[in-house]
Amino acid sequence: MPHRAPGAPGRNPKSYLSGKPITYYRPRGSADVRHLIDNGFQAFNAGRLSEACHIFTEKMLDPANDTTIGLTVAGALTPAGLGGCVIELMERGLVDFIISTGANLYHDLHYALNFTLHRGSPFLDDVELYEQGIIRIYDVLFPATVLLETDAYIRDFLVRSKLEGPIATSEFHYRLGQDLVQKNPGCEQYSVVAQAALSGVPIYTSSPGDSSIGMNIAYHELMNDSRLMIDPNKDVNEVCAFILAGRKNGCVILGGGSPKNFYLQGQPTLWEVYGIPKGGNDYFIQLTTDQVVWGGLSGATPAEAVSWGKVNPGVLPDTVVSYCDSTIAFPLFCEYAVGSKYARRPRKELVHKRDALVAKLREEARNAMRTHPKPDDKTETMPDLERHR
Ligand SMILES: NC(=O)c1ccc[n+]([C@@H]2O[C@H](COP(=O)([O-])OP(=O)(O)OC[C@H]3O[C@@H](n4cnc5c(N)ncnc54)[C@H](O)[C@@H]3O)[C@@H](O)[C@H]2O)c1
Repeated sequence: MPHRAPGAPGRNPKSYLSGKPITYYRPRGSADVRHLIDNGFQAFNAGRLSEACHIFTEKMLDPANDTTIGLTVAGALTPAGLGGCVIELMERGLVDFIISTGANLYHDLHYALNFTLHRGSPFLDDVELYEQGIIRIYDVLFPATVLLETDAYIRDFLVRSKLEGPIATSEFHYRLGQDLVQKNPGCEQYSVVAQAALSGVPIYTSSPGDSSIGMNIAYHELMNDSRLMIDPNKDVNEVCAFILAGRKNGCVILGGGSPKNFYLQGQPTLWEVYGIPKGGNDYFIQLTTDQVVWGGLSGATPAEAVSWGKVNPGVLPDTVVSYCDSTIAFPLFCEYAVGSKYARRPRKELVHKRDALVAKLREEARNAMRTHPKPDDKTETMPDLERHR
């Protein structure tokens, strides 16, 4: 393989980058899409997607249920332009916190910084792309310089922000989003990280080292002697505190991967570790291509999650998995939600309530420890699974 300086433009890179720019699509509540989902999506995975739309809009968004809604994001969704759907949900108060792979947040920064990703083809000569300094995510193409300049921005932010010591990823992303808005006013309309900071939606990453954001934080420690440290314990406790505080809890899971478990483990953290039986998640929607037969968590069904105390057994009718490519299913789901009766809710702005809610978690955990000292046998601490608050 010939060496090239990463990003060094080769010959005629323009020909590969002549496809339309990928933009963030914003759902508008199309009546035609709602008609299709209600009347045309009747069986198989279309039927499940229709069911997911109904659970979300009629139950999870019903103000009487006051559901705390977590969105988990895995798969190459921001490169494919789906960040606009997430922005729309956040602006409308339809999601309260997000757990994403680092990759989706990193690629979101390209949009915030006004770099262009292009529509292309999955059937290209990758050696030629490499020689021309072009990166491919399936059929999304962009110059390697986009990576280098986004990385340079992250490193510059790390120095300017003076962030030090252990912090939660929610704090890191909040500060990053604020910086983006300051640097590029209006970018909250085309950046998930920027919009989340303005809407008060905390964003977590379940594996902070697993992205170019994590790679640049590592650089900052090695080269600048920074003491900044991403502290996953804070993330675990904050998510757990949101779930404890939720009157009802529900999730929309896109893809699978570690964000899925990071959300779902909130309930076992409560009953198994802190001795606080909350009763399991109330609503569960997953749009995924992952299959159950391989035994992995990504494809595990809501029924399997019942056995772990992650999902309340009494609410299995309010759980659904639609086996779909989320780049197709999620925009349809969002069109349906935006056109629904409860298409706007007061934002919970959990990013500003993190400390208070974690303090409440600590208080309840101490009370639980006093009233029910932890037995050695964990089966004795299993929640009453029939109980539904
Ligand atoms: N530069 C970076 O920081 C960096 C790091 C890792 C990955 N990446 C790129 O970002 C992309 C996204 O990586 P990732 O870590 O977010 O997730 P991923 O691609 O590893 O996917 C994780 C999960 O989502 C499911 N999934 C994937 N695509 C789906 C789809 N279209 N519909 C439904 N379910 C789907 C998978 O089955 C899996 O459970 C990768 O393709 C890679 O090119 C970039």
